[in-house]
Amino acid sequence: MCGIVGYIGEEQAAPILLDGLAKLEYRGYDSAGMAIYDGEKINIQKSMGRLKVLSELTHDGSTMPGCIGIGHTRWATHGEPSDANAHPHFNESKTIAVVHNGIIENYVKLKKKLTDKGYQFLSETDTEVVAHLLDYYYKKNEEKPDRIIETITKVMHRVEGSYALGIIFQDQPDRVYALRKDSPLIVGKGAHGNLIASDVPAVLKYTRDVYFIDNEEIACLTKEEISFFNSDGESIEKTSKRIDWDINAAEKGGYEHFLLKEMYEQPKTVRDTLNPRIKDGQIVIEELGMTDEEICAINRIHIVACGSAYHTGVTAKYIMEGLARIPVEVDLASEFRYRNPILQKNDLVIIISQSGETADSLAALREAKEQGITTLGIVNVVGSSIAREADRVMYTWAGPEISVATTKAYSAQLIAHYLLAIHFAKVKGMITDEKVADMITELKALPAQIEMLLANKEKIQKMANRYVGAKDVFFIGRGIDYAIGLEGSLKLKEISYIHSEAYAAGELKHGTISLIEEGTLVISLVTQKDLYLKTISNIVEVRSRGAVVFAVTNEDNTEIEKNADYVIYVPQTNKYFTNSLAIVPLQLFAYYVSIGRGCDVDKPRNLAKSVTVE
Ligand code: G6P
Repeated sequence: MCGIVGYIGEEQAAPILLDGLAKLEYRGYDSAGMAIYDGEKINIQKSMGRLKVLSELTHDGSTMPGCIGIGHTRWATHGEPSDANAHPHFNESKTIAVVHNGIIENYVKLKKKLTDKGYQFLSETDTEVVAHLLDYYYKKNEEKPDRIIETITKVMHRVEGSYALGIIFQDQPDRVYALRKDSPLIVGKGAHGNLIASDVPAVLKYTRDVYFIDNEEIACLTKEEISFFNSDGESIEKTSKRIDWDINAAEKGGYEHFLLKEMYEQPKTVRDTLNPRIKDGQIVIEELGMTDEEICAINRIHIVACGSAYHTGVTAKYIMEGLARIPVEVDLASEFRYRNPILQKNDLVIIISQSGETADSLAALREAKEQGITTLGIVNVVGSSIAREADRVMYTWAGPEISVATTKAYSAQLIAHYLLAIHFAKVKGMITDEKVADMITELKALPAQIEMLLANKEKIQKMANRYVGAKDVFFIGRGIDYAIGLEGSLKLKEISYIHSEAYAAGELKHGTISLIEEGTLVISLVTQKDLYLKTISNIVEVRSRGAVVFAVTNEDNTEIEKNADYVIYVPQTNKYFTNSLAIVPLQLFAYYVSIGRGCDVDKPRNLAKSVTVE
């Protein structure tokens, strides 16, 4: 995780770095720092705490003059959050400064070697070995004609693990260097200077022309030029891509929080993901590139993801199996990669990821590819590692998502799953044209239905106010309702810090029901008509043990009023699409409870949006 930035150009670097770091704070926010070359030497300012601490410390960057610099916002892996462990890190003579996103896995061994050679370490981080290693090889390569590239490639070959690194050398004051392996890195070509960053939003204010750096590539930026090298130090050519995102998408746009703004962007996100794939009343997923024969031959689908993306996978299993009758296994990426999964010819592995950079999801993708299995990425960030490495990519057009807790990307992922399931079912002859047409009509109605749910937030707000002090909350449901509960529960606990659990309603009595006490809040998802009565029985069971029940159900299920304390109705839709609607009140509930508790909803403690470490 962590975010890195760098700038070299005609402007003062510090304010540009602070601005870029603000866009990357979603990647980690326990400390921040900058290294700026002032014309004579490199100065570092860094501090534990949010970016605003660094801004205050440097008077918005004004106490750090210079047009060349690198910056960092941290999510601690090795070494607690502290001033000493914050990046950038120096070599001993303070002539080389380094920022790093990733983990140097062999740092213990390298640290030992460097310590034996007399290097002294000031932090507990894995990153500091890079600063000293650069120093070591820089001195060793003194006679080499291309001393810096020689040094960097040497370091590249010595370190194991993942890294996106930004480096400045006092001896080479007109250059910023950057390199990466398995952690994201982009380079932006601006009119008044060039930039490096972990993610596109950090450079959008200055340029839309971006180079995506591949694994084991090095970038060298001067004020005017950008050159690239491979891990052998040979010069390589790269082409830039024009980014056409709306820059406002990475700003709060009048909303108090990104989370709220992104929730309200869901109708647009759903439309943007859906509309381009509906042509002449048919679902057309051009980017899938699979023939009908290939689709009919699919033996099994493995959906692999982390966090909320995994929850969309759980939903997708019910839909894909229900509609297309293709067996689906859903795995957490961190489990999949180490369980020696059985993958067979004609299986399809679907990796779902908003960022396209989640370390475990990326590793799962590589595992599947290694076994020769076709892979499909459902990804939001264009040009991300998963998007580039998967055999096929289906983009979710949610635009930049800044809040750590996902909402709009989750909604877009659901749409991608619906489209795939309907398309596969149609190709396999499992559903008629008429049925497809009906489903398309229902899909097209979703954005307006989501808008309506968002507009009627008052009831949820009131309820949330009553439960800001809740100790435990349980989410129950069956089938797709269970999948909705998983996400509703995650949203609540990750941003409000209230303990919550999602349970398959029928499983409750195998243990969890013993946790229900007088006044415990149980949120019941009841959107699957064929399961209404079954779930209602479970509601009755918890209520008779003192639970307060908040039910989310369909408009036609008014009977539920007899069994629930609060009811939120969602508009009628196809049974497979109810997740898209029922999740909205749960997102709002989590948001308002958290606000009531004074939590930082956009940046919950200990979390980061892009999890690029195992
Ligand atoms: C983090 C985020 C979640 C996200 C998960 C997977 O935990 O906070 O919102 O669902 O990572 O991330 P990905 O980018 O792969 O979807």
